Formats: sequence, structure tokens, C-alpha cells
Amino acid sequence: MASAIRRLGPAGALLVVLLAVGCRSPFGVFRPAGPEAGTLSQIGWFLVALMSVTTLVMGFLIVVGALRRRGELDEHAPIDEGGGKGWILVGGLAIPVVVLAGLFGLTVATLGDAPGEETAGDPAVTIEVTAHQWWWEVQYRDSLISRRFTTANEIHVPVDRNVEIRLTSADVIHSFWVPRLHGKLDAIPGQTNRLVLQASEPGVYSGECAEYCGVQHANMRFLVVAEPLDEYRRWAERQRQPARTPEDSTLARGREAFMQHACAMCHRVRGTPARGAVGPDLTHFGSRRTLAAATYPNRTAPLHAWIVDAQSLKPGVKMPSMDQFDGRTLRALAAYLQSLK
Ligand code: CUA
Repeated sequence: MASAIRRLGPAGALLVVLLAVGCRSPFGVFRPAGPEAGTLSQIGWFLVALMSVTTLVMGFLIVVGALRRRGELDEHAPIDEGGGKGWILVGGLAIPVVVLAGLFGLTVATLGDAPGEETAGDPAVTIEVTAHQWWWEVQYRDSLISRRFTTANEIHVPVDRNVEIRLTSADVIHSFWVPRLHGKLDAIPGQTNRLVLQASEPGVYSGECAEYCGVQHANMRFLVVAEPLDEYRRWAERQRQPARTPEDSTLARGREAFMQHACAMCHRVRGTPARGAVGPDLTHFGSRRTLAAATYPNRTAPLHAWIVDAQSLKPGVKMPSMDQFDGRTLRALAAYLQSLK
């Protein structure tokens, strides 16, 4: 990668960076997939257009000034004779005041239109999201307590429905952001902020923490999986089930390792004695796409590495490096976790 960039030269490298952060990025603000993100992206395009025009006009004036330059500096009239005052008053004061005031009005009006406490009707799903250093706890509400369930770092929502997110934090201030679906909203300890989001097309949308919250802020990501309503319902129904007790001897060995070591003190697996509440609920861990808050794919090799040496993969995380297992036990433990679908 590095040598490829060296061959491209600075201009080529810049192009690569622009392409990498550009429209195809899963974080593409300019590829909205929901009504609220759509409005925000309109403002974004408007700003891009406005700033481009400003840049062009300024560039043009600079070129004109450079070409019309005559003589030496000390030949020119001293500054207090009023030369160019009109330019300063109009170009430096009047136009910026009008433009910036207009933008302020536009932004405030758009924010006011975002679905809030009083609009958006009855949400199809209400989800309580609690930010932790550095992962997301996701609780699905239901009027029946027995139908509530908890998961982490992966939020499933039905397409084309209003989904209410009730956002809070367990420690410091974080910010919940899925660029393709909505604007940022702070997660504040002791306060519940409300956000209504809607995905117009099925897909997996990347989200991230958008407020610096400690050393692993950059690795506090999550996914929003939008699926058709019946698919979403099937997913929710599976998530409500407790974990099955494995019959396979390897999985049973893995389960035993989980229950007898520190894992069970920090993590919950519904249907087992593991009731920890420090880390993510792992009842259906095997059904998730990622681990360590969307930092690594949920596959065998990263999972082994995560169990053995979480502190190297995500320094500062509360998960200790569990290096006490022999190879066989480690493989069984990982297989057990992956079997929790
Ligand atoms: Cu949580 Cu940044």
C-alpha cells in the first residue's frame, strides 16, 4: 500500500484519499438512505455549491489583482485615502453578513423540521441505546417485559418505518451517528435524547461515535441493519430466545470454559448462569457481523485473537486479555460463542 502511494506521487495519493472518503464510503453523507439524511444532504450540496462559487469568485479576483498590478508598493496612495473602501464594505462585510445569516436561518429551519418529540407518529420500534466506553448496548423495548431483549453494536430496524432511538450514556458523553440515515445526536449520562430514524432501503449502514470519548473513540462503531418488516420480525423473534445448551462435546467444553472463567462475570448469556452486565450481552453473539464494536469481522481468527489479547487489539478496553486457555479450550470457547446464533 505504502509503496503504491509512493509510486502515485502526492497528487495521486490525494486522489486516492478523496476517492476513499468520497461517495462510495459506507459513511457517505451524500448518499442518504433515509428522509432525515436526505434533508441534511441537500443542505450539504447547497453548501458545497455556495462555497465553490465563493472560491471561484475569490480566485478570479486574486488573478485579476495580480494581473493589474502596476509599479512599486511605495508609489501607491497611502491607505487612509479611502481607496477600496467600497470593496471592503460590500465584499468583506455586507455579502458575508447576508450569506451567513441566510445559512443560519436555513440550518435552524432544517433542524426544526427533524422529527422530534411531537412529530413522527407512533414509532414501529423503540430502541434504547446506551453508549459505553467503547461499545453500544441496544435494548429493544416492548410493552410485554418478556418480549424485551438486549443486544450490542448491531441495530436491526425494519425498512420504511419510524424507529425511535432513546439515547443515553453509561459513562462519558458520546455521539450516535449513522451518516446515511440521520444527523448526530449526543449520548449524555443521566439524560435521554430522542431520535427518530428511518431507512428507505434495505442495507447495512455504518455508524460511529462522533464525540471524542477516550482512547478507543475511533473504534466505537456499530452497524444498522435495515431489512423488510417480516425479516426484521423473524430476527427479533430469534433474538428473544435464550441461548440453547449445546449437546456437541466441543461446544459444551467451550460453554464450561465461559462459565468458569471471568467471561461470565462481565457478559450475559440469557438461559445460562452468565449474568454479567459490564460488557455486551452475548446471547446471540454468533449472529452478529462484527466484534469489538464493529472493529473486527466476527470470524474465527479475529475472535481467537480478541479473547487472548483484547488489550493489543483495542488498548484500554475493559475486556482483559484472557491468555490462560490452552489451544483446545480456546478453540472450543470461540466455537461456543459462534454457535450462539
Ligand atoms: Cu464514544 Cu467517541
